[in-house]
Amino acid sequence: MINITSYVIGKMISYFGNDIKRINHALKVYGFCKSIGGIEKLNEYDMLILELAAILHDIGIKESERKYNSSAGDYQEIEGPPIAKELLKGLNLDENIIERICFLIGNHHSYNKIDKTDLQILIESDFLVNAYEDNIKKAAIKFMKDKYFKTPAGRRFLDTIYTNQ
Ligand SMILES: [Fe+2]
Repeated sequence: MINITSYVIGKMISYFGNDIKRINHALKVYGFCKSIGGIEKLNEYDMLILELAAILHDIGIKESERKYNSSAGDYQEIEGPPIAKELLKGLNLDENIIERICFLIGNHHSYNKIDKTDLQILIESDFLVNAYEDNIKKAAIKFMKDKYFKTPAGRRFLDTIYTNQ
């Protein structure tokens, strides 16, 4: 039996091609999701959704740049889900799983739409990576932690990496 996550990581890498920055970003966000999701004891079903959404969360970025000349979050959120659906085809995944993955991809910049732990963890993980990649200031990181970080593991990682020194 194929391992779905491994297979989808391969698909993501092929899709991004030589865009190493995006590939690294997706792998880093996936790593944080895997750790936080495990520590927070997500069940297998939610974990699969979270892992696949993490791998594909920014998959709409190329189309956004091509169509609108922008990598802004709103465009990515629109362009991501159809591409994700295409990449997840043929894996025998339940329709509800695919729908939820697409919801996560389509809302991972919408902090006001967090309805469940899977999206919460994806947003925290993306920020844990972006704080470094975008050189976000300490004050903004603290603000983000107070306002939006909810999981104990995510809060702990943010402190360990960014705010404790
Ligand atoms: Fe991201």
